[in-house]
Amino acid sequence: MKQMIPALVIISVLFYALYLSNQPKQTKSPIEKTEKMTNLKYAKHIEAHKEHHFEEELKRLRTSQYTKEYIVSVINHGSNQFNFRGGEMEGGFASPNDAAKIACYVLELSGKKCKQAHEKDAPMFYSSICAGCHGEDGKGLNGTYPDLTRKKLLGVEKREAFLKSLMAKTK
Ligand code: HEC
Repeated sequence: MKQMIPALVIISVLFYALYLSNQPKQTKSPIEKTEKMTNLKYAKHIEAHKEHHFEEELKRLRTSQYTKEYIVSVINHGSNQFNFRGGEMEGGFASPNDAAKIACYVLELSGKKCKQAHEKDAPMFYSSICAGCHGEDGKGLNGTYPDLTRKKLLGVEKREAFLKSLMAKTK
């Protein structure tokens, strides 16, 4: 009996291999399945839109809300896209919570408005965190720090030019 053990082991391994080779192959990995679902959802989402996303964005770009979101994003993530002598602006000078308040105050400096007037502590945050570079009045320092009271902020202007170039390509 003892001599038969190796033979039995070999036979069982062979049977197991045979069993495995007859198993239907798993056609899709979970990742492939998720990708397919996501693509499907995206396709439906695109279909539901009558116009391109960038056309919608172009319309939104003229609103104060859009400018506010841009300012908040600069405060949170910084900006390094222009050629000011001040160099780049780092993100995180203010907490995300304060960023929204400060953004409303900056809008007011340029004669625009958030839905609600800026919160009480917003000017204090602006003065202590931003004014050192952008000035108490937000007008910046010629060539060194950008003017935050421009009718259209540089970043918004740049985004608009980009979206328009996309639009020109699809026409
Ligand atoms: C250390 C100086 C400094 C401080 C402090 C600073 N910034 Fe800036 N900021 C800059 C510079 C420099 C740029 C231009 C960076 C670039 O080239 O993209 C800039 C760009 C910006 C822009 C984009 C302007 C545009 O026209 O698109 C906004 C908005 C802005 N800052 C808001 C703020 C706010 C609000 C604060 C306070 C929370 C702040 N910054 C604090 C130096 C500063």
